[in-house]
Amino acid sequence: MATQLFEGKDHAAVYQKYRFSPQEAVQGVIFSYLEKKGAKSFQLAADVGCGTGQGTHFLAKRFEKVVATDISQAQIEEAKGAPHPPNISYQVCPAEKLPFPDRSVDFVMSLTAVHWFDLPPFMQEVNRILKPSGCVAFISCTLDVQIYYKNCTEKLTEIFREIHKPLLPYRDEKVKRVTDDYKFIFDSLPFQDKERVTDIVEKVPMTIAEVMGYIQSFSMYQKFLKAHPEEAKSLIQNTERRFLEVMGVSSRDTPVELGMRYVCVLGCKNS
Ligand SMILES: C[S@@+](CC[C@H](N)C(=O)[O-])C[C@H]1O[C@@H](n2cnc3c(N)ncnc32)[C@H](O)[C@@H]1O
Repeated sequence: MATQLFEGKDHAAVYQKYRFSPQEAVQGVIFSYLEKKGAKSFQLAADVGCGTGQGTHFLAKRFEKVVATDISQAQIEEAKGAPHPPNISYQVCPAEKLPFPDRSVDFVMSLTAVHWFDLPPFMQEVNRILKPSGCVAFISCTLDVQIYYKNCTEKLTEIFREIHKPLLPYRDEKVKRVTDDYKFIFDSLPFQDKERVTDIVEKVPMTIAEVMGYIQSFSMYQKFLKAHPEEAKSLIQNTERRFLEVMGVSSRDTPVELGMRYVCVLGCKNS
């Protein structure tokens, strides 16, 4: 059954505001792989589970056309409403039934999304729509996060980790597919030619206010908020207060860097 944890309009709006795009390290892994596999056609890329589309944009620089899809109407509405390159189009549809003819797509990407899908029908669709030498990249940010600020990195990171404790009961089973560093996803990809990279690290400049927004975009936080609105709001307020105390500052606009580890499964159809 499809996972519907990203349906709410408010959640989609938080997503659009606080989720960030993969930067050079992730993009480098993807484009080096396409180069290594001798990719020649850059006509059509699909971004499946695109959410509000931030992660889609970089594909538009390399591919003639990008079609980004998501099961959530609210996420796609946010994506359509945000400024985006003219060669990207957005569609609401499930990952398990993709709107492309057989052997028509050069590259399928999925960013922090494939672990939510029903994997056997999704992988079948990927195999069906890819051109004979088409490639895939299934990427995810992990829960392995560091917050860098002067000499406070260790303490801030510890506070960030502590928020997982109250959120744990609201974490979906499918998140195990992320905590195993996409091993299950790797095993589910029905290609011989595949690899898994688990040590991609990016540092994203943010303010403390944006870190708090990022936490609120987690599906487990949104579930906690629905179940216990007051506790969820105090978790955010207390965490922010603790961050600022440790940093010895009063402004939530103080800049920090969020260190994020990504995992990536890459594959080439080769038939
Ligand atoms: C964590 S968000 C990632 C969004 C975006 N790729 C990003 O990196 O910001 C996961 C997305 O997968 C979508 N999703 C979950 N299950 C899906 C399915 N079966 N088919 C299509 N999209 C799905 C959700 O609606 C959500 O937008």
